[in-house]
Amino acid sequence: AQNLNHGRTAYHFQPARCWQNDPNGPMYHNGMYHFFYQYNPRGPTWGDGKLSWGHSVSGDLVNWADVGNALDPTSPFDVNGCWSGSATVLPGGRPAILYTGMDDADKAQVQNVAFAKNPSDPLLREWEKPSCNPVIPMPEDVTGNNFRDPTEAWRGRDGLWRVAVAAEVAGVGSLLVYRSADFLHWERNPGPPLHVASSRDGDGPAVLECPDLFPMAAPGAMEGLDVSASRAGVLHVLKLSDFAKEDHYMVGRYDDEEDTFAPAEPERGGDCANWRRLDHGHLYASKSFYDARKKRRVLWAWVDETDGGGEGRGWAGIQAFPRAMWLDTDGKRLVQWPVEEIETLRRKRVGLQWATEVEAGGRKEIAGIVSSQADVQAVFEVPNLEDAETLDPKWLQDPKGLCAEKGASLPGGVGPFGLLVMASGDLKEHTAIFFRVFKHLDTYKVLMCTDLTKSSTKAEGIKIPFYGAFLDVEVDKDRSLSLRTLIDHTVVESFGDRGRTCMTARMYPEHPATSRSRLYAFNYGAGAVKVSKLEAWELATAAVNGGGVI
Ligand code: FRU
Repeated sequence: AQNLNHGRTAYHFQPARCWQNDPNGPMYHNGMYHFFYQYNPRGPTWGDGKLSWGHSVSGDLVNWADVGNALDPTSPFDVNGCWSGSATVLPGGRPAILYTGMDDADKAQVQNVAFAKNPSDPLLREWEKPSCNPVIPMPEDVTGNNFRDPTEAWRGRDGLWRVAVAAEVAGVGSLLVYRSADFLHWERNPGPPLHVASSRDGDGPAVLECPDLFPMAAPGAMEGLDVSASRAGVLHVLKLSDFAKEDHYMVGRYDDEEDTFAPAEPERGGDCANWRRLDHGHLYASKSFYDARKKRRVLWAWVDETDGGGEGRGWAGIQAFPRAMWLDTDGKRLVQWPVEEIETLRRKRVGLQWATEVEAGGRKEIAGIVSSQADVQAVFEVPNLEDAETLDPKWLQDPKGLCAEKGASLPGGVGPFGLLVMASGDLKEHTAIFFRVFKHLDTYKVLMCTDLTKSSTKAEGIKIPFYGAFLDVEVDKDRSLSLRTLIDHTVVESFGDRGRTCMTARMYPEHPATSRSRLYAFNYGAGAVKVSKLEAWELATAAVNGGGVI
């Protein structure tokens, strides 16, 4: 028998049952947040790809009501699947969706449009697909049937709409821009593609998915901009999803005359695998939108299961908790932080006394809340840097490998210290999120890891990946490291260095159904670590599509 509640999260977005993958067409319209997603209403797997667009609405990005599918694969131009795409509110207030259809001929990927039938329905329940679809058929030079995932459309200063579509052009991953005056007739920009992937040796063509292109306010400013806010001096972010693996981004300058993008860090090259990672853990196919209500850019992203899927549960896939996102002061990095509405779920708060010391080899329990759904914020004072281990330079390009080699349970010099979450009473099960400081030449490198090796006693079928990243901090000057971690039963989202380095992980502990999970600060380094701040809030269960929690 399926247990629909098993492993369910308490405040992450999921449909009540069945499979979901990519976030689609998020938008804020007439006082309501809309969220669409790749949905297979027939079961807990992606299946044959004949996906629908699930649709939920919310007033606060926290509590969600399912209002029924917006798109189902019922027309000749999408009968084999309504795949990913975006929403745009047209002048006059009519919302439109651009999405990829798998057509009735050879499952050819084509771009379609759908319009909200009744724009004054606050729930936008009904969508109509005009018969002129597909509005962008598959071009001749596209190979491998890879032509999909239109971005949110934006308007250039000439008043024309633009949309970028990921395409494999003559074997090369590219981003094609199309222009339109009326949202129905689209013409390919005759110039070069907005992005062309450099080839990847031995790895086949670089297939790109789910592009996102959006403008940013000045570096350091937390406000967001509407997608069409193209004016002199505005920096854009180009985000690409690297065929079923990772999301990467590059800051740069978008030119709305040529529809080109000039990267701010050209030295990273044309293979997005070498760009910055949006999240160093397990997260894919992200898509952002401009939230005019709070004037911010908000990021959604799919977080897949890592235990082989949902057959036994009847559901699979969650979305990362929505994150506000802005450009850091250096103009190159993004900062991500859970939207402030998460605070409406905060209940009981516990913490450690200011300047509690966690002695070498020690742990301090943060007790008194149900920590399987919690928001934890900690600041660790970095102990004596003379204890730091020397970094073998071979790890500089492989922080993940270094996390695998030096996991949470291996004592070190400065660190490992951090949090143990979703821990069983006997500590046989726990997930560790930690820092470890290394000496490298005249400076220090701070490694952040999520170690899942002890996350579950059930070994069978569960992948245990290693997640790691070097933080961009000067630890010898700052002397403190911050960590925020959202815990929600089978997911932890961690934000190191105030949101500059993010790491999302899934875990499937066996114990929470029977006993209370525990939360600890730990330190397996050589000297004591002072915790200058540690606050943990128990989070209430949100109303998410009528689904239950464990
Ligand atoms: C990314 C993706 C998209 C596609 C969709 C189909 O996860 O493969 O490229 O549109 O999923 O569900």
